[in-house]
Amino acid sequence: MSSTDRAVSILDDSRREERERVVELLTKAYWMEIETVMNYVAASINPDGVRARRIAESLEEDIQEELGHAKLFGQRIKDLYGVVPSSTDFTAEQSFMRPPEQQTDVVELIRGVIKAETGAIEHYNRIVAETEEIDPVTQDMVIDILHDEEGHRRLFEGFLREYEHEGRA
Ligand SMILES: [Fe+2]
Ligand SMILES: [Fe+2]
Repeated sequence: MSSTDRAVSILDDSRREERERVVELLTKAYWMEIETVMNYVAASINPDGVRARRIAESLEEDIQEELGHAKLFGQRIKDLYGVVPSSTDFTAEQSFMRPPEQQTDVVELIRGVIKAETGAIEHYNRIVAETEEIDPVTQDMVIDILHDEEGHRRLFEGFLREYEHEGRA
């Protein structure tokens, strides 16, 4: 891309193809956040026992943040002349977030959360890379969200470490 092209907004007619690619990436991100909200709601309710409840409470706090991410992705899809999809287009992917056999099995839950956060981190890094010099506004937004997800993963890695230290993981 020439430097003149870069000065043309992603909203310009001439950039429709790039815009559609960005909308595609954002739509996947939107679904990831929605699925995470579904699974964190369940995981904030299901766990039994004092220690599992502590993890559940942490997930409960995350729900609003993940929902906020979904709304940001949705708004950006609209800004780029896309349409936010309805549930009929949804395909579940987080099989690892299925409730454990025992609702006191906090380690399996923590591992599931780390996997969900890692999936988001990988996809958002891809968006940051693909929007470089193409769509700085999307890139800027996704960098902020990526920062949140790295914080979530780090928190749950800390929980897992605690269990590993005790020989329970
Ligand atoms: Fe998120
Ligand atoms: Fe997250």
